[in-house]
Amino acid sequence: MKLSAPLLTATALLSPATAQLHDLAKQAGLLYFGAATDTPHQRERAPYPESYAQYDAILNDPSEFGQTTPTNGQKWLFVEPQSRLFNFTEGDYVADLAQNTNKLLRCHALVWHSQLAPWVETTEWTPETLTGAITRHIRAVAGYYRGRCYAWDVVNEALDEDGTYRKSVFYEVLGEEYLKLAFRVAAEVDPDAKLYYNDYGIERPDSVKTAGAVRLVTMLKDAGVRIDGVGMQAHLHADNHPTAEELIATSEGYGALVDEVAFTELDVRIKMPANETKLEWQKECYQKVVTACVKVKACVGITLWDFYDPFSWVPDVFEGQGASLVWFEDFSKHPAYDGMVQTFKKLIGDKPGNGCKRRRRSVAGGKA
Ligand code: XIL
Repeated sequence: MKLSAPLLTATALLSPATAQLHDLAKQAGLLYFGAATDTPHQRERAPYPESYAQYDAILNDPSEFGQTTPTNGQKWLFVEPQSRLFNFTEGDYVADLAQNTNKLLRCHALVWHSQLAPWVETTEWTPETLTGAITRHIRAVAGYYRGRCYAWDVVNEALDEDGTYRKSVFYEVLGEEYLKLAFRVAAEVDPDAKLYYNDYGIERPDSVKTAGAVRLVTMLKDAGVRIDGVGMQAHLHADNHPTAEELIATSEGYGALVDEVAFTELDVRIKMPANETKLEWQKECYQKVVTACVKVKACVGITLWDFYDPFSWVPDVFEGQGASLVWFEDFSKHPAYDGMVQTFKKLIGDKPGNGCKRRRRSVAGGKA
């Protein structure tokens, strides 16, 4: 029997085998569901060239991922390894991939204390000379990518665990002025990009670091500096993760201050070895993030920090932890994949601000 077009659409919507994350995220009212990626043959990717073909087929599929971020290629260490010497080779790899596979590009990160070029840390700065170096860096990098970045992480991880400012070279020399400077220069250079503050550990409403992020954003706004978004990195733990209500409360808190929030580097690490129970906790955590993003009006999207376990940064940095992404080494999917598919489907029509869809569904369902 040949299926009629509407029936085909309904079948596609219901079948987990065909439903893919970005398509479902869009149906649920998000702008994107994405995955960050790195340059082939570099860092975590280096030992696995035999997996690239299968990996690329998933990454490039626009129904699966409608957005990407370079995990490394636009960081200071790679784009300005020596003063005034710029190299965009690695950043271009991901920017071109985004363009060729119809994905939004989140650009990452202009000012960050980590993966900083050594010369920035060893130079004896005055406030004037460091202001010059930051300005030059942002003008060159954001200028080079102007018009291609949906969003820029303008400042990354400016807070310590206790919510006070991290004592980076930027803070030591310029105090909080460096934050204002970075956002001002970025706004001047790429006025169409959404300008984000991005950090980890700012996902729970009651944490001191979340309070610090709120203070930081408020400080910028009070100074008349434009900031459009807060990125919650969301490097989470399977065995101790925030509830959906907590994620919603935090996101709404930021959403009251800025236009957008996003989950920018999502992964959910497991204390190895993984087993069914831990994968179930992990699935629940991924589902909670999906729920929070759909239910919060300001939340535009979710980015996985890569999607394939062998390419994850987690095992290298957190000893004994891993399996944090959604595709196992053999390219089978974690339970979290179908979990997210089910959650997106359940929540289609529920995004605040998408009132039309909700009304249409209630009328069709005959309920108020
Ligand atoms: C990580 C990369 O994934 C690794 O390849 C690299 O070795 C270290 O940095 N917060 C961030 C990201 O903002 O840039 C970090 O990415 C992970 C933590």
